Amino acid sequence: MASTINEFPSTGDEIRKSFLDFYERKAHKVIPSSSLIPEDPTVLLTIAGMLPFKSVFLGLKERPSERATSSQKCIRTNDIENVGITARHHTFFEMLGNFSFGDYFKEDAIKWAWELVTNVYNLDPKNIVVSIYYKDEESKAIWEKVVGVETSRIIKLDEKDNFWSSGPTGPCGPCSELYYDFHPERGTNNIDLEDDDRFIEFYNLVFMQHNRDINGNLTDLASKNIDTGMGLERMAQILQNKKNNYETDLIFPIIKKASEIANIDYQTSTDSKKTSLKILGDHTRAVIHLISDGVVASNLGRGYVLRRLLRRMIRHGRLLGVRKNFLMELAEVGIQMMKETYPELDINADRILKDIDIEELRFLETLERGEKLINEFLISGEKIMSGLKAFELYDTYGFPLELTKEILEENNIQIDLQGFEKEMDSQRERAKASSQNIDLTLKGSIERDIELFDKTIFNGYQSLNSLGKILGIFIDSNSVTNASEGQYVQMILDQTSFYGESGGQVGDVGVIISDNAEILIDKVIRKKGVFLHCGKVLKGVISLNQSVETKVDKFNRAKAEANHTATHLLQSALKIIVDKSVSQRGSLVAFNKLRFDFNASQPVSTVQIAEVETLVNKWIMENHPVVVKSMQKDDALEAGALAMFGEKYGDIVRVVDMPGVSMELCGGTHVQENIRIRLFQDYF
Ligand code: SER
Repeated sequence: MASTINEFPSTGDEIRKSFLDFYERKAHKVIPSSSLIPEDPTVLLTIAGMLPFKSVFLGLKERPSERATSSQKCIRTNDIENVGITARHHTFFEMLGNFSFGDYFKEDAIKWAWELVTNVYNLDPKNIVVSIYYKDEESKAIWEKVVGVETSRIIKLDEKDNFWSSGPTGPCGPCSELYYDFHPERGTNNIDLEDDDRFIEFYNLVFMQHNRDINGNLTDLASKNIDTGMGLERMAQILQNKKNNYETDLIFPIIKKASEIANIDYQTSTDSKKTSLKILGDHTRAVIHLISDGVVASNLGRGYVLRRLLRRMIRHGRLLGVRKNFLMELAEVGIQMMKETYPELDINADRILKDIDIEELRFLETLERGEKLINEFLISGEKIMSGLKAFELYDTYGFPLELTKEILEENNIQIDLQGFEKEMDSQRERAKASSQNIDLTLKGSIERDIELFDKTIFNGYQSLNSLGKILGIFIDSNSVTNASEGQYVQMILDQTSFYGESGGQVGDVGVIISDNAEILIDKVIRKKGVFLHCGKVLKGVISLNQSVETKVDKFNRAKAEANHTATHLLQSALKIIVDKSVSQRGSLVAFNKLRFDFNASQPVSTVQIAEVETLVNKWIMENHPVVVKSMQKDDALEAGALAMFGEKYGDIVRVVDMPGVSMELCGGTHVQENIRIRLFQDYF
């Protein structure tokens, strides 16, 4: 006899594959998951499967095909306090989606969704309830007449529930959702879809037909589209018949590992311990993917999301009685579980584990400092700890309230819990503000928003002109979608030929032009690798996503290059004439002058200054070539390349070499041959 084969999908991997296969059979192109860091600069993280297609829906980008399907990794942190408490809230989740870009619309989307869930996933129609947007009679008719769903199982919901958009602005539309009913025997009178014990929403069909502008006005998109999302973890809960998403094969192996480390049994443990274990299961998936996609723990933007998740994990580990660093072990399980679907996890495994370990060790030190603080409080003899103090221990030192309480109770000390809750509420508000979609109307947002942009690609070494796309516009440090004649702006582009001030060299000046606008750029600065082009709109209007041409002023660039190369020659000459141990401490490379700061073991005499000048001018006359190359850092240093004291460099470095005369690690722009410096002279 043949062994039993489960003909319907049940494991997470099977559910994902059968979704993609089903839509591939319906002529959809299977698109791999995009990064968690979205292209869209107005959104912090990829929060839905549609995000990578946002500009396609808006008609700004060519569609990859008429129909697409994907399993997209997503992160949402606006409900983080529900993670591990409810059955199905997550930070990281996978969203299965099918998309139509101006091709099929409501009827096919609804029909196929039904075919998928009843034929492929084999759900009993008796267990399905659907919701529709209350004004959407067309969807209602399709569910009733084309699919044959009983009218009593079609529930009308308002904008709050059944009108979907990815953020305050952008493509949006009414939606229709499919819910699984765990208790159909309770009948269809008074159906309450918010009743989590009875219903779980698992598939959202969005009829993407509008664009919402910054003032909230809706306009029709050029074409009608479909955007759907099915929570993989939710479908796994249904098909694996589990009480919650955490107990599915998509998360449970991590929970199992965490229980082993904590030496407890998940099934028989208390609810609060179960919650901690679920949080560890959930957050492990989020942090490995965030780090894999390039996020580094910090106190801002995405980096803050990552840091917060890691710290919550450590805290919950302590609540479970774990006293050592353990996050890497959980991460290893997570990577093993998901590396086939997301090969980048395997490629980046070493970095993921290292980053997690560093952050964990750092935080454990912080926790120890907190412990000291508690001890000091105990010695003070006070009998009540203020809410603010307990909150400081919780927020700054990562002390779970339970832990503080436990220690204080042993010493007959109380905590002002109300005061603590008050502080918690304000913190939640702050956290929400930093983890949700970026509100374009927020004031003074440039410092925070800069984190959201990818590093600007600088292609101005080879050419003074480049094409680029406007990714961000700021006026007085506020994010805006466009700017017009007379306004002074700061612009972020995806790529540019303008050098951004760094390494002592000033930023380029020049113009940026589009079909209808011209901006005079007088300064380019860099923050975290993102170039801010500052200047005045001379004419026309510039808008987000517009294509532009960047044109650097070649005379000023040539002057900066001459001064930069001369700085390198100056350093070599100082080492020969003054002292080998001369080392650079800073510099200014401007259009009209250069300044070189250095340490030397003895004062430099007037005669030496004259000799330095003569030597540099001799090299200029000899016309040494300037060769720029990429090298392994260690090889470059071994070959004698000079590096700036205290500066951090990556493994691959850019080396500016004038063979036999000077060799330095440098990111700046330079003349190609020394003669272009013309004359080197000390004016002071
Ligand atoms: N974008 C919709 C959602 O996230 C459908 O995919 O629910």
